[in-house]
Amino acid sequence: MITYRQLFIFLLFFKGLFAGEVSAQIYRPSAAIEERVLSLLDDMTLEEKIGQLTLYTTDWGATGPTIREGYKNDIRSGACGNLFNSHTVGFVRELQRIAVEETRLKIPLLFGFDVIHGYKTIFPIPLGEAASWDLAAIEKSARVGATEASAAGLNWTFAPMVDISRDPRWGRVMEGAGEDTYLGCRIAEARVRGIQGPKIGNTDAMLACVKHYAAYGAPLAGRDYNTVDMSERFFREYYLPPYEAAVRAGAATVMTSFNDYDGVPATGNKYLMTDILRKEWGFRGFVVTDYTSINEMVNHGVIANEKEAGELALNAGVDMDMQGAVYQRFLAQSVREGKVSEILVDEAVRRVLRLKFELGLFENPYKFCDETREKTELLSAPHRTAAREVSRKSIVLLKNEKNVLPLKKTAKIALVGPLADNKTELIGNWNGAGNSNDCISVLEGLRAQTKAEVLFESGCEFFVAKNGGLEAARALAQQADVVVAVVGEQAMMSGEAAARADISLPAVQEDMVLELIKTGKPVIVILMNGRPLALPKIAENAAAILETWWLGTEAGNAIADVVYGDYNPSGKLPMTFPRSVGQVPVFYNERNTGRPYDPNSKWTSRYIDSPNSPQWPFGFGLSYTTFGYTEPKPDKAVFKKGETLQIAVTVSNTGSVDGEEVVQLYVRDLVGSVTRPVKELKGFQKVLLRAGESKKLTFKLNEHDLSFFRRDMTFGVEPGEYEIMVGGNSGDLKRVKVRMTE
Ligand code: GLC
Repeated sequence: MITYRQLFIFLLFFKGLFAGEVSAQIYRPSAAIEERVLSLLDDMTLEEKIGQLTLYTTDWGATGPTIREGYKNDIRSGACGNLFNSHTVGFVRELQRIAVEETRLKIPLLFGFDVIHGYKTIFPIPLGEAASWDLAAIEKSARVGATEASAAGLNWTFAPMVDISRDPRWGRVMEGAGEDTYLGCRIAEARVRGIQGPKIGNTDAMLACVKHYAAYGAPLAGRDYNTVDMSERFFREYYLPPYEAAVRAGAATVMTSFNDYDGVPATGNKYLMTDILRKEWGFRGFVVTDYTSINEMVNHGVIANEKEAGELALNAGVDMDMQGAVYQRFLAQSVREGKVSEILVDEAVRRVLRLKFELGLFENPYKFCDETREKTELLSAPHRTAAREVSRKSIVLLKNEKNVLPLKKTAKIALVGPLADNKTELIGNWNGAGNSNDCISVLEGLRAQTKAEVLFESGCEFFVAKNGGLEAARALAQQADVVVAVVGEQAMMSGEAAARADISLPAVQEDMVLELIKTGKPVIVILMNGRPLALPKIAENAAAILETWWLGTEAGNAIADVVYGDYNPSGKLPMTFPRSVGQVPVFYNERNTGRPYDPNSKWTSRYIDSPNSPQWPFGFGLSYTTFGYTEPKPDKAVFKKGETLQIAVTVSNTGSVDGEEVVQLYVRDLVGSVTRPVKELKGFQKVLLRAGESKKLTFKLNEHDLSFFRRDMTFGVEPGEYEIMVGGNSGDLKRVKVRMTE
């Protein structure tokens, strides 16, 4: 008995025989997506299937070592079904037209791009946004990025990057959410929500791509692309959770990382790509490699040649080959040789087609090519306003001696430093289609908000002295009430392939600041950097320090808002700032060791030439006001395993100006079947408190919050004593003990 489906496919095939082609709109638009995917899959040749598993960059941007010529012909022949680094409505429309008019099956293309912290309106780098601890603000930033990028033809972004990292030598810390797993999970979820919006298929929604799976942020020596070597316990406890959080938040795609895990490169690691991602987490989207990471498995030394690398990747569960042309060149042969089952190829193709159907590309391949949206959305006033908001929230006040900040708008400022009037660096690395000319510099931002004089002299270059610069800066300082020095890295000193063995401020800049401090004028240092820096002398001698990361298009306005107190800084460090690179890795949730630091004993875990403590700890950030905390009050001193524990704390604004405080909750499991961190972040609430106002906050800790990978690697709790800690940073906490019973 012939089924409807078989009949339909026969008719389809029959029609195709004559027409020699099928239109993109067929495949039963009213049917369920799965049926439509199957109908299309049945039409496809093996080569056309492999084309859907192939992703090439156009010549519009190099985000890796190779660029292929002839990608338009690859589209025409069906050898390439997906592109990245091509955007604007005009260019996307041109390329999509080739796919849906000049190919046999007319399957629309995906268009991917690295929209990491904004498309045209550039927001703070992700590490900076993480410092806001404001999940709504972070989601908003991702939402604006997706709104603008989708207005420029794009439907897929290679974000969020959720790699946990405790090593500021690694340049890509700028792209992530810092060192903490809990904060990293919450931010990963917020970014996925922002990117994908309420529904995939909306014209302002993009496919998210959680990366770089997995543990890319833990390269030995902080050197990009280097080996990652850690126990499974460590991996599952600290590095894996944010990928899971993003997947469970609905991330449509996942990107493999360049590194190996447990000796097998992620791009060929079946344990990661199938056992954990699909079997444990139920992920149904597709996995794309990082840039030529299949090919690079030959360098890793786990496979003899690229053809076998392709077989290893596909069999591990990797669906799409970014830029490697390995699937295109070898996969058909591998299938014919039986090295790869066509069933696996079909599964991979189904995952890709499913998302193309979900996006609505078959009904309208040009749905993201709306010139009107492109004209109205990009750099719109609301988007610039949002960027200024998020930027202000991302600024961290690290020091403020004698409350030198905020400045009065009558203060005469000597503004110095190579970044003081700079625009080109403000959009940071991975800056999408941002144009630094759209940025507001610090000089512009300050001058826009005051009638007092803002005198400017760069004083030095980034890495070398400027002829007469220091003298000119000194002279300016003498004429002013206060010196504001804007110093830091260049944007490309962080990001991919930008590891630093020395994480100090460029010497010429530090020397200039220290020279200006000798004038006796208060010196306010504004830092711009993509990673924690080691700057002990600045920390000791500057009157005030603002950490501003790379704030993007509205940088100058946001910084001026904080300098003049129109916004009271509320940021908290998402990553520890070491005193020196010699302390790295230094992070807050360390374990106690058998010889915990004792200042009075040589024979403890310590240095002979440095304190153990960092310059500024995780979660640290000052305000123009002060906050007071009561002791944390648990709703029960003894609670049963499985019960939820509630902790109340009252926070007061004990100063004279309104301010926001990030109230942080930490937990310590005092005795475990394995060594446990001395504290772990398990909750936070960012609250606005008017001057003199107090608020009672409640936190809840459930069984999952207190669970960990026990001695036998099962995930769960262990009854016993816990310390509950609350405060405004990980180094200054009030504590209470509670006991969990069976
Ligand atoms: C790069 C990066 C990755 C990026 C991709 C495409 O090598 O590792 O984060 O999304 O290539 O640009």
